[in-house]
Amino acid sequence: MYVCVCNAVTEDDVHGCMASGACTTAKEVKTACGMLPGCGSCTKRIHALVSEYRTASELADALTGGSLPLTAVPEPSAPATVSEPNVTQNTERGTAPPTAA
Ligand code: FES
Repeated sequence: MYVCVCNAVTEDDVHGCMASGACTTAKEVKTACGMLPGCGSCTKRIHALVSEYRTASELADALTGGSLPLTAVPEPSAPATVSEPNVTQNTERGTAPPTAA
């Protein structure tokens, strides 16, 4: 989802900057994402994303006893195709096919 429409920056872009360790503040994220001044309506959302990420990272540190970088979740791949079940037909007349109990 887009965080900044003016600069076409997504939540994944912000999370990627934070996960790389290159950015720890909203200002650094804006610089790393190449954001130029725009309408400014995204500022609160970017600050919230950075704050959420830092809180999650600190919680992970507290639970694991060390600094572990959080990684961005990759985009889900296309769903696998579902093949038709292998159905064999009963060719004897009057005989019902076996049913599952
Ligand atoms: S939405 Fe980010 S500057 Fe406009």
